[in-house]
Amino acid sequence: MNEITWRSPSNIAIVKYWGKHGEQLPANPSISLTLSEAYTETSIAYQEGSGHIEFFFEGVKNDAFAARVTSFVSRLEQEMPSLAGLDFRIESSNSFPHSAGIASSASAMSALALCLGSVAAQVAGSMHEATDVSRVSHFARLGSGSAARSVAGPLMLWGETPALKGTSDEFAVVVDDVDSVFETYRDSILIVSDEEKQVKSSAGHALMNGHPYAQKRFELAGQRIAAILDILREGDVHAFGKLAEQEAMDLHAMMMTSTPPFLLMRPGTVSIIEALNAYRSDTGHPVYMTLDAGPNVHMLYPNEIAAQVLEWIESDLKKYCTGGKILHDKVGHGPKFITS
Ligand code: PMV
Repeated sequence: MNEITWRSPSNIAIVKYWGKHGEQLPANPSISLTLSEAYTETSIAYQEGSGHIEFFFEGVKNDAFAARVTSFVSRLEQEMPSLAGLDFRIESSNSFPHSAGIASSASAMSALALCLGSVAAQVAGSMHEATDVSRVSHFARLGSGSAARSVAGPLMLWGETPALKGTSDEFAVVVDDVDSVFETYRDSILIVSDEEKQVKSSAGHALMNGHPYAQKRFELAGQRIAAILDILREGDVHAFGKLAEQEAMDLHAMMMTSTPPFLLMRPGTVSIIEALNAYRSDTGHPVYMTLDAGPNVHMLYPNEIAAQVLEWIESDLKKYCTGGKILHDKVGHGPKFITS
């Protein structure tokens, strides 16, 4: 059997993707920081066969995920016919604990898309599929929308916007014109709860269909994309943080005003946000937070103030984290080809 291995990171959205249509197309453009410490490593061993797929997560056979991968592969076969009829044995593991309550679909589906692109390239005798960022991003998007933004770094934008040339709803692009301070960003993820997500992503996106505030939300996200591109260019860390917090609150507001409504923050989330507001007004440090579709708080700050921020997190915020769990991540440069 031939084997291919890729390591692909997670990402954290600053302008959020929430709402979709058609075949995994976003209702609004989104932008994210590519992470580096939270990643999925996936190996695919393959041989000529009958299209049989076996999937192992951290050494344990997972038939439910094998079924999801089977439908993903059959979607990709339309574009990479050389995948047809191959048998796959897929092994996947995460660098972060399974129960960390952080979304793993971005890293998992991008690692898988990269592996399948490389397999198709090997079988067809060309490296095209595995090296073209927009093509791999497009494949990853079909697995999970946010995965489209994990195939390169340090920042990726997914969704068509007049604010940046070359953007598309089909794939994410690297944002080039960025002040170097953003490449030094840290993301300390404060794990308030490590329970399973209350709302799975696909059900969450569906809440935006017919949502009374949906149109305004999509419009605002589009405007914020234009604003953040200027902010990134200028290196304005306070404007960046303010926009990140506004987006986090909007995402949660959308869930609170859905039918049925969801409250994803926990008391610990609110305590951390209040402590952050006080810390910022005391110190003036550019530390801001964002939230995913859950209660955990992503603390975002530039590396030059890391020593002070880490000390504060340890002394004042750790008590709100379940089992004192905090994952320290930072901006990275995207996936790594491990071996073939
Ligand atoms: O990729 P999905 O379908 O799991 O959606 C991710 C949605 C958010 O994480 C809430 C926001 C985002 O843009 O990553």
